[in-house]
Amino acid sequence: MPKLTVDGVGEFEVPAGKRLVNALVDECGVDQLHACGGVARCTTCRVEFLAGEPAAITKAEQAVLAAKGLAGTPGLRLSCQIACDGDMTVKVISRLAGSGRVDSGKRPADAIEPSPEWA
Ligand code: FES
Repeated sequence: MPKLTVDGVGEFEVPAGKRLVNALVDECGVDQLHACGGVARCTTCRVEFLAGEPAAITKAEQAVLAAKGLAGTPGLRLSCQIACDGDMTVKVISRLAGSGRVDSGKRPADAIEPSPEWA
């Protein structure tokens, strides 16, 4: 099982292939935002990679990061567009606490949405 390290939170074993956003919530107990429900629209699921950033990126992630002016920010990725296929270390930078939102957003589906097209 891949090891997911969350800076300042701990180290967790996560099921291989699980969506990073759901692993952060389920295995790590993080109040990670995912306002659009994991469909690459909002960018509130963003995390900062400290290690293990996947080289693969979905076209949907690329497009929304560019649209929000976030493309090219070092380590910044969308946790709803990433599967836990290897060991990763991330910093949580978009949490419910302090956001002023009433909830984290609809639970993202188990599989990456929209159906991934890799850039
Ligand atoms: S972009 Fe909205 S949850 Fe990932």
